[in-house]
Amino acid sequence: MSNFKLGFVGAGFIARFQAKALQGVRGAELAGVYALKGSQELSYLAKKLGVGECKVYRSVKELCKNVDAVAIFAPNYARLEIMNKIAEAVKEGAELKGIICEKPLGRTVKEAIELVKIARSTGLPNAYFENQLHMKAIKAQKEQLRTVEEKMGPIALARSSEEHSGPHEGWFWDPTRQGGGVLCDMGCHSIACCWYILTPHGKPVTYLKPITVSAEVGLLKWGLPRWRKDLFNRTGVDYSKTPAEDFATGIITFQNPKTGQIVKGQFTNSWMYDKQGLRLMMDGLGPGYAFEFNSLLSSLQVFIGDTAAEAIADAESALEKSTATRGLLIVEPNEADLYGYVDELTDAVNSFKKGKDGFLNFEYGLEITKLCQASYMSAEQKKVIDLRDRNTLKELENYVSLIAQGKGREILPIIEN
Ligand SMILES: NC(=O)c1ccc[n+]([C@@H]2O[C@H](COP(=O)([O-])OP(=O)(O)OC[C@H]3O[C@@H](n4cnc5c(N)ncnc54)[C@H](O)[C@@H]3O)[C@@H](O)[C@H]2O)c1
Repeated sequence: MSNFKLGFVGAGFIARFQAKALQGVRGAELAGVYALKGSQELSYLAKKLGVGECKVYRSVKELCKNVDAVAIFAPNYARLEIMNKIAEAVKEGAELKGIICEKPLGRTVKEAIELVKIARSTGLPNAYFENQLHMKAIKAQKEQLRTVEEKMGPIALARSSEEHSGPHEGWFWDPTRQGGGVLCDMGCHSIACCWYILTPHGKPVTYLKPITVSAEVGLLKWGLPRWRKDLFNRTGVDYSKTPAEDFATGIITFQNPKTGQIVKGQFTNSWMYDKQGLRLMMDGLGPGYAFEFNSLLSSLQVFIGDTAAEAIADAESALEKSTATRGLLIVEPNEADLYGYVDELTDAVNSFKKGKDGFLNFEYGLEITKLCQASYMSAEQKKVIDLRDRNTLKELENYVSLIAQGKGREILPIIEN
C-alpha cells in the first residue's frame, strides 16, 4: 500500500520537528510543503531524514491538490487565510482526506469558531494538534492507574506546566500577531493537559464540565529595562509599548456531570524559565495515589567543559529551547517522541485513513481557546469567571484581551528606563 501523503503549510520550527517525528510513523510521508520561507531547507531535511521527497509548492492550493492531508504549521495570525485557501482548494476538486491545525486553534474565541466553521464546510475529517495529550508518559500513567482509579475514585487535582526562556521567533513575542503572550502560546497545552489528567478513564476528553476559571498574568522578566532592550534588539518587538505576559497561572474548576464531584486543574506557564531548556511538568493526585512527570529528569546527561564548549555549535540539539552549551547538560534522545509528536501524527494519519477525525478535533481546540480566553478575562477583570453564566459565555465570544489588542500596559507592570 502506498504511503499516506502529508503536506505542510509552514516550514519553521514545528514543521522541522514534525518532519523528525515522521521517522517514527509508519505508512506516511512528507510529500510536499508550501511556506513563505524555509521550504527548500525543509525539503532537504525531509530527504536527509528519509521521510519523503517533500516537493516545494508555490501555493496552498497547489499543495492541497498533490497530498492526502494538509497540516497548518504556520503562525497563529495566518490561520484563517490558510484555512480559507484549503477550503477553496477542496471546492475546486482537491481530494484531501483530512486537515490538521497546530495549537492554538484561534487567538480569540471568535477566530476559533470561524476556523471550526470553515473546516466543517469542507466535509473533511480534521485533527487539532495538542501534542501533550499524546505523550507516551501521560498515556502510560492513565493505563497504570486505571484499576486504582476505578477502586479509589478519579484524580482530583492536576497540575501542568510548560516553561522555557522564551520563543525563537519575533512574531510569538508580538501580542497583536500571536494573540497574547505565554498564556495564549503555552497555556493552551497546560490547560488541555489538566483537563485530560482529571478526566476519568474511558470518558471523552470534554466529559468534565469546566465551571469556573481564575487566573493571573505577570510580566516578571521581559518588562524590565535591560531585558526589554535585549528583546527589542533581537526581535524588533517593544515591550515598553506593547507588552505581553511572560508568566501565567490559574485554576480551572471542573464538575463531573454524573457524580457532581468537583476537581481542579492548576496550570503554570512562563517564558522566564532560565534553566537548561524546556521543562514540562505534570502531576495528578487522587485519593491514595498519584503520578508525577518532569521532562528535565532525563536518564542521559552530557558534560562539556569550557575548553570543549566550541564542540556544540547548535544548542537546540541537546534539548528544545536550550539555554546553555556547556557544563552538565540534560539530553533527551528523542524529543519528537517524548513530547507526543510521533503519536499525534500516527493518530491523525490512521484516523484520516478511516475517514474519521483525529483523537482531538477542531471543536476540542475551540473549547481550549475558550478556557484560555476566560483565563485572560479573569486576569484582566481580577475576578473568577463563571462559565455557567450565559452572559459571560456571550461576552467571551467577542472578547479580545487587552494584551492582544496591544494595550498590555494597562495591566502589566512596566518600569520606565
Ligand atoms: N505543539 C507545539 O509544541 C508547538 C511548538 C512550536 C510551534 N507550535 C505552533 O506551530 C505554529 C508555527 O510555529 P513555528 O514555531 O513553526 O513558527 P516559525 O515562525 O518557526 O515558522 C513559521 C513558518 O510558517 C511560514 N509562514 C508564515 N506565514 C505564512 C503564510 N501566510 N503562508 C504560508 N506559510 C507561512 C513561515 O515562512 C515559516 O516557514 C504556531 O501556531 C505555533 O503555535 C506548536
